[in-house]
Amino acid sequence: MIDARPDPLEKADWPLRTERLVIRRMTPADIEPTWAFRRLPEVAEWVTTAFADLEAYRKIFEDPDVIGPGLVIEHEGVVVGDLMLRISDPWSQTEVREQGNGTQAELGWTIDPAHQGNGYATEAVRAVLDVCFGSLGLRRIVAECFADNEASWRLMERLGMRRESHTVKDSLHRTRGWLDGLSYAILAEEWARR
Ligand SMILES: CC(C)(COP(=O)(O)OP(=O)(O)OC[C@H]1O[C@@H](n2cnc3c(N)ncnc32)[C@H](O)[C@@H]1OP(=O)(O)O)[C@@H](O)C(=O)NCCC(=O)NCCS
Repeated sequence: MIDARPDPLEKADWPLRTERLVIRRMTPADIEPTWAFRRLPEVAEWVTTAFADLEAYRKIFEDPDVIGPGLVIEHEGVVVGDLMLRISDPWSQTEVREQGNGTQAELGWTIDPAHQGNGYATEAVRAVLDVCFGSLGLRRIVAECFADNEASWRLMERLGMRRESHTVKDSLHRTRGWLDGLSYAILAEEWARR
């Protein structure tokens, strides 16, 4: 279930700075720079929606529920990618629900193909995981992809995430048909031990 509380990312100190990158909250001004790479077929291939044009993309990304969990990755002042950090409630029994709510998050990522192969996603997500398990106080982070999206699951493995499931032909791709799915996760204690 998606967390309905106002701006759960506020507790962190944005922007984050790494050796090469700045990771900041997404704003409406990022719609055009992110569209510049999200419109490319090699990106659209793996993401949930292949938007027909900038206006269709803008309509979705202007929604606070979409832009709110959005982060932008900058290298030398240029937007080279974006991330999604969506805090959610894990499954729990009723009596302990309050205790579990808002303690996990799902991550998503896109790097402009012109900037892939430089380790930017790895560097940015490492910084975000530090914040997730630090100031945001989360206990579990998950990520999912089509099994055919090797760049995405290789990233999860580079980050030290653990493969939790390989589901068979459960995920419908717009041109490839029913594909296998992979899900990965990492717990706060695993991140601390890495
Ligand atoms: C998934 C995605 C973000 C991965 O991007 P990426 O550039 O491969 O990942 P990184 O930025 O971490 O770069 C890692 C690559 O750079 C290389 N690299 C170079 N310098 C590096 C460094 N300092 N640190 C780590 N890796 C480095 C790595 O060897 C690796 O290349 P390899 O896979 O050929 O071994 C990208 O493929 C993408 O945007 N895909 C389209 C959208 C998508 O699929 N989103 C996810 C949907 S589930």
